[in-house]
Amino acid sequence: MYTPAITGTGVFTPDAVVTNAELVETFNAYVDLYNAENADAIEAGTIVAKEHSSEEFIFKASGIEQRYVMDKTGILDPKVMHPLLRQRSDDEPSLMAEMALDAANKALKAAGKTAADVDAVICAASNLERAYPAVAIEIQDLLEINGFAFDMNVACSSATFGIQAAADMVRSGSIRSALVVNPEICSAHLEWRDRDCHFIFGDVATATLIERAEDATGAYFEVKSTRCATEFSNNIRNNNGFLRRSRPDGVADRRDMQFMQNGRKVFKEVLPMVADHVASHMADTNVEAADLKRIWLHQANKSMNDFIGRKVLGRTPEPGEQPNVLQDYANTSSAGSIIAFSKYSDDLQDGDTGLICSFGAGYSVGSVIVQKHG
Ligand code: COA
Repeated sequence: MYTPAITGTGVFTPDAVVTNAELVETFNAYVDLYNAENADAIEAGTIVAKEHSSEEFIFKASGIEQRYVMDKTGILDPKVMHPLLRQRSDDEPSLMAEMALDAANKALKAAGKTAADVDAVICAASNLERAYPAVAIEIQDLLEINGFAFDMNVACSSATFGIQAAADMVRSGSIRSALVVNPEICSAHLEWRDRDCHFIFGDVATATLIERAEDATGAYFEVKSTRCATEFSNNIRNNNGFLRRSRPDGVADRRDMQFMQNGRKVFKEVLPMVADHVASHMADTNVEAADLKRIWLHQANKSMNDFIGRKVLGRTPEPGEQPNVLQDYANTSSAGSIIAFSKYSDDLQDGDTGLICSFGAGYSVGSVIVQKHG
């Protein structure tokens, strides 16, 4: 048995930023166009007029101030309302592979390693841009990694589930190291015309290098323990899939082919699930709240994170104990907790313990207890 450790992380952040002000201006222009085009039906009562969004609501309900996206021109065009992402030819790197590559190279550099030191790639994300060949194998090829690669999807929990898979393989000795990459193009599965959720997501890619602790060249985070859990729920759902073209019912236009959620129910049901999960994981690992120097949570909603932070620590977290990045990145699905970990973990001291936790569709929840060495 070997001790698995996180030896490096990396974050790819897209260049384009969409502020709440830009987002709301576009959304409201779209609403005005929609209501004007459907004025007769609205007057007749057969169509319900759409309502304006507001910056105040978005910030108050979520804590989000802006998001990074792969393309803002389409998102901010009231007549388009989705990103315009050029179809790549089969001879070019796919978009997800390109994003992941940047994050992976940063993680390798942070760990003082090269691709020659890596045995496996896991691409864990909430959507994959094609069915096969696996995006992970393309990333493996682009990095010239020997070994194997595979894709996996557990929605917002993909990163922690991927870390568990990698850490278990490192622990057992079947591999020496793995890159877990999380390229999240959430802007392409968000319905930007839906007022209830148009502000939620952003794009990013993260990478985490997991190695044997003995192979670390500098400071590292030992993966002390991981725990994953799932419970089926329809409250966060995206029905898009490979069967859509086989169905005779005009699926292309259906709202359920993009991200759907019953946000209130998610809020109410996921919070206790996460709180219980983390409490039992900590108890079984003999980790007390007082032992935790930092918690890096999934970044979906500030109130949710504040609540979980209070539950886990048994008090209101001090500034910096539970860092949020969602004000800048919005919800980046599986990548959120890893962005927070990557940006806010260098200052921890030798022996400090922390908790990475993600949760989301499925429902799914994954927690990783780490301890700094060096
Ligand atoms: N602008 C202005 N008003 C808006 C609005 C917008 N963009 N969107 C909704 N509203 C209105 C609603 O119409 C509603 O009005 P009403 O009270 O008159 O009916 C009111 O604001 C409250 O809406 P609600 O959807 O209940 O807000 P909320 O406080 O629950 O916040 C979420 C919405 C989505 C931010 C919140 O429920 C959430 O974060 N849930 C969990 C999400 C999550 O973790 N998802 C996982 C994704 S991976």
